Amino acid sequence: MNQIQTPFFRIKEKDLLYDISLLREALSLNWGNYVMGYSVKTNSLPWLLVYLKQQGFYAEVVSRTEFDLAIRLGFPAQHIIYNGPIKDKKVFERVLLSHGYVNLDSSYELDWMEELSALYPNNEFRIGLRVNCDLAALCPEEELAAQEGGRFGYCYENGILAAAISNLSRLPNVRIAGLHLHSSTQSRTVQVFASLARMAVRIAREYSLTLSYVDMGGGYFGGRDDKPDYRDYFREIGRELSAFFDPAQTVLIAEPGVSLISRATTFETSVIDIKDIRGTKFVVTDGSRTNLNPLVTRHVYPHHIKYISDASVRNKTASQWVCGATCMEYDRLFEIVNGPSLLPGDRIIYDTAGGYTMCLNPLFINYFPAVYAEHEDGSLFTARQAWTNEEFLQKNYME
Ligand SMILES: Cc1ncc(COP(=O)(O)O)c(C=O)c1O
Repeated sequence: MNQIQTPFFRIKEKDLLYDISLLREALSLNWGNYVMGYSVKTNSLPWLLVYLKQQGFYAEVVSRTEFDLAIRLGFPAQHIIYNGPIKDKKVFERVLLSHGYVNLDSSYELDWMEELSALYPNNEFRIGLRVNCDLAALCPEEELAAQEGGRFGYCYENGILAAAISNLSRLPNVRIAGLHLHSSTQSRTVQVFASLARMAVRIAREYSLTLSYVDMGGGYFGGRDDKPDYRDYFREIGRELSAFFDPAQTVLIAEPGVSLISRATTFETSVIDIKDIRGTKFVVTDGSRTNLNPLVTRHVYPHHIKYISDASVRNKTASQWVCGATCMEYDRLFEIVNGPSLLPGDRIIYDTAGGYTMCLNPLFINYFPAVYAEHEDGSLFTARQAWTNEEFLQKNYME
């Protein structure tokens, strides 16, 4: 592997399969009747999407571009879960008519349903509604993604959800078949998912909904031994849902993103140079903070080092600052305090890195790094070549 040009992302199939089977078993054991969706926006690497499709996943998409990509990669339209506040009318119609899952989120979608209902009077439409509920009130301990609360879906507390249910119920060929409860929080606790499942029960009871599915969304921890995993989440979700729903009638949908892939992904870089600037050692590497955290807000980058030669016989350096490949001063990743002096050729490998940023990666100074998939037998498959000016110049025009 050492001859492979850094920087690159690696996806280890063995670890990916481990998390896939954890999810499958958790859903199977705790509910039985389930659909595994995968959040395409998290990492839309074509190799990964096809791999997950072969593992039985549906594609959870939030844009026309993602929908088109999923279809081009072979997902059938009935295996699409269409979410998000900005929907495309044509995609909306196609997914609904193909019996895929559409979770309504915005006001204009209610008007679209009215139009579609009249346009296809003989079609039976099954739709879902994204629920917005007051998580801060339900789980005061939870660290929310945004202080003022979530912005997606129809608000339960102020009656907007009730109004949407009432408007849709008037359409003779439209059935509210599902509730979507995705809510990202910082703390990703099991309790928040238990509360959301209880909310699904409460809404179904309150509005006498007969649901074919409950979509619990994503937002789980995964790939971390110090955190809960799918088994913990779905034990609680299953327990709460079973107060009202029957697995024989109601499908449980999960649509994880980062929790499914973070254990399997690493970002691998090399030390290129060591600079001594007035006593501070700067270790220049060929990867960048922008490859791992495009908004450069993070200060912790879990990693391990593969030394090119025996590190135990090297001198120790009091402080070494590992820096990235861009010409930005902020491109500094972490400090090594009193560690073996690094040398050009040493490899710095960032663990659980790239889940999101394999694709959420700025085309800044350098373009997308390569991605290699490591099969269970250790062989490598080039899932994506590093982008060059060949790709960057596409569809650019110069006068
Ligand atoms: C609707 C929806 N589903 C699933 C996900 C995946 O979330 P995560 O990557 O935290 O599992 C997201 C991410 O924000 C989302 O918005």
